[in-house]
Amino acid sequence: MNKGSIVAGVLAPHPPHLVYGENPPQNEPKSECGWEGLRWAYERCRANIKALKPDVLVVHSPHWPTVVGHHFLGLPHFKGLSVDPIFPHLFRYNYDVKVDVDLSLQIRDVCAKADMHTSVVKNPDFRLDYGSIICLHLINPDWDIPVVLISSNQAAFYFSNEVGAQVAKDLGEATRQAIEISGKRAVLLASSSLSHRHFVHEPDLPEDMSFERIHHHGQYLWDMKVIDMMKKGQCRELLDIMPEFIEMASAEVKVGSLNWMLEAMGVPNYPAVVHGYGTVIGTGNAVVEWNPSLKGKN
Ligand SMILES: [Fe+2]
Repeated sequence: MNKGSIVAGVLAPHPPHLVYGENPPQNEPKSECGWEGLRWAYERCRANIKALKPDVLVVHSPHWPTVVGHHFLGLPHFKGLSVDPIFPHLFRYNYDVKVDVDLSLQIRDVCAKADMHTSVVKNPDFRLDYGSIICLHLINPDWDIPVVLISSNQAAFYFSNEVGAQVAKDLGEATRQAIEISGKRAVLLASSSLSHRHFVHEPDLPEDMSFERIHHHGQYLWDMKVIDMMKKGQCRELLDIMPEFIEMASAEVKVGSLNWMLEAMGVPNYPAVVHGYGTVIGTGNAVVEWNPSLKGKN
């Protein structure tokens, strides 16, 4: 069997507004439009990812928070209704998801061998988190690629951002090792916004874009700083300043999704493709792709 590999990684934000703006049949609320800059960014990224013909999409989400270790899905199929607890009027999504259980358990086994706490979900009625569902839909609305979901272990980040970064590094390395053993071609999705200060009121019409703007100029400057580092291939330096970015911009990367992905990819030193940046109710969001096959072509 050939050695498996991570063929791309995507910073894949999950505001429910983006699915609401797309009006897919799975989502009950309907919109007129909205957040096109980010939705078109996803369209461009989606075309690149589909062209790679990956065997599996592996997502790490802040909205599957666990306190004791990382949890993995141990059943091949999950079906249900995912409702965003903050925006139930925007996101009530009927999902029907196929899981690559073999890879899910392989990652779990490598984590366990490295003395990390793990747990496997065997409850068929377990509700998948909206952070995973949303970015998976936006990257692959056809849902024709099996998925692996990894919970975000919050405990280490409660202690400090630096300790959390170390745990995310261990998880990333375990993920890479398991993918190599599996022989599969995997795409990783770091389900996360960047800066995460947001407004607490929304307009009567949520998709009225005349109200959409960054919450605070300081967080915008931080977003531009970290995106510039991504464009320059400075991921090692980005990891170095991540704890400060998290504190200064209340960044959603706090729970480790981006650290996990960059560490799993061996900390890329080539320029990422930034497909687009936009705000959602004041938060900063970017769709960013690390794709070794595009190195030197953009
Ligand atoms: Fe979120």
